Amino acid sequence: MSIYILGIESSCDDTSAAVLKDRQILSNVIANQSIHQKYGGVVPELASRAHQQNIIPVVEVALQEAKIDKKQLDAIAFTRGPGLLGSLLVGTSFAKAFAMGLGIPIIEVNHLKAHILAHFVQEKPGDASPEFPFLCLTVSGGHTQIVQVNSPSEMKVLGKTIDDAAGEAFDKAAKIMGLPYPGGPQIDQLAKKGNPLAFSFPEPKIQGLDYSFSGLKTSFLYFLRDQLKGDADFIEKNKADLSASIQHTIIKVLLSKLRRASRETGIKQIAIAGGVSANSGLRNQVMEMAEKMQWEVFLPSFQFTTDNAAMIAISGYYKFLEKDFASQTIVPYAKSAFK
Ligand code: KG4
Ligand code: ZN
Repeated sequence: MSIYILGIESSCDDTSAAVLKDRQILSNVIANQSIHQKYGGVVPELASRAHQQNIIPVVEVALQEAKIDKKQLDAIAFTRGPGLLGSLLVGTSFAKAFAMGLGIPIIEVNHLKAHILAHFVQEKPGDASPEFPFLCLTVSGGHTQIVQVNSPSEMKVLGKTIDDAAGEAFDKAAKIMGLPYPGGPQIDQLAKKGNPLAFSFPEPKIQGLDYSFSGLKTSFLYFLRDQLKGDADFIEKNKADLSASIQHTIIKVLLSKLRRASRETGIKQIAIAGGVSANSGLRNQVMEMAEKMQWEVFLPSFQFTTDNAAMIAISGYYKFLEKDFASQTIVPYAKSAFK
């Protein structure tokens, strides 16, 4: 018999609800919050208010698109953390109340693990997914990690950022250039028209499989400050080359550690996940590296790169199979625990 899971995601600034029938996606509805754009970043208080307004309509549409009745749901999976606490509270409280009303279990999901498990959502029957164990480079606005995934429940962090996340590096570089938030997609677009070797920035020297991006941001800032002294229009004239060069450096740093992780573990099944996995330069370069390293690479489809509830529902599906349910007393967590 099929299992129907409703997934709820509200950890940051996207309110999302999705329905899965086993691993097959029936709907994945995402309401973006444009309100944050004028502030140049996510304002937590505004995010939770917007989640409150969006959550019920988004769930209604997800059920309609899935063409199922709420009574058919077997469980509700929700993001417990990490994320903004006020935002998480909206999704958690909604999931608890809705599940109690329907008399079905709730399943808590870790947002970071969910980005990885998005690779197991089937958009059409027979879609390929990675074999265990595989390595996943998880790159988002809040996190950058290389994870060894042994099973849907057993994951080991091999390396992570000690300061800024890769998405943050994109967003901060974009902000320095005066581009609107979120800057990652803007840099991606501009980089397509620029020369990645036009400017060079120092790569961080960090031990092992860890990352650091805060120094890169600072050198980008100082470089531009110096150039602007001689030419006030420097950024405007060089936007494409600057974008291509900073993107090139971020990707080089990301992939050099991923290659090292693959060498050290002997694992050649490679996936990327998280918001930055939408970056076209990263996608191209990971495929180029795949040829040299004989990797089998899994790139998420675009609807699963940024925050979405389908990834929460698939995580819930695997926990449902284990009967790993949460109690009604559960509370969200803000910090990046990899539970
Ligand atoms: O996974 P996500 O939606 O939210 C978090 O959990 O953080 O990731 C958002 C991040 C932002 O920093 C955004 O700038 C970045 O992903 N991003 C991109 C691209 N699309 C989104 N960065 C580079 N290139 C892109 N195309
Ligand atoms: Zn995310």
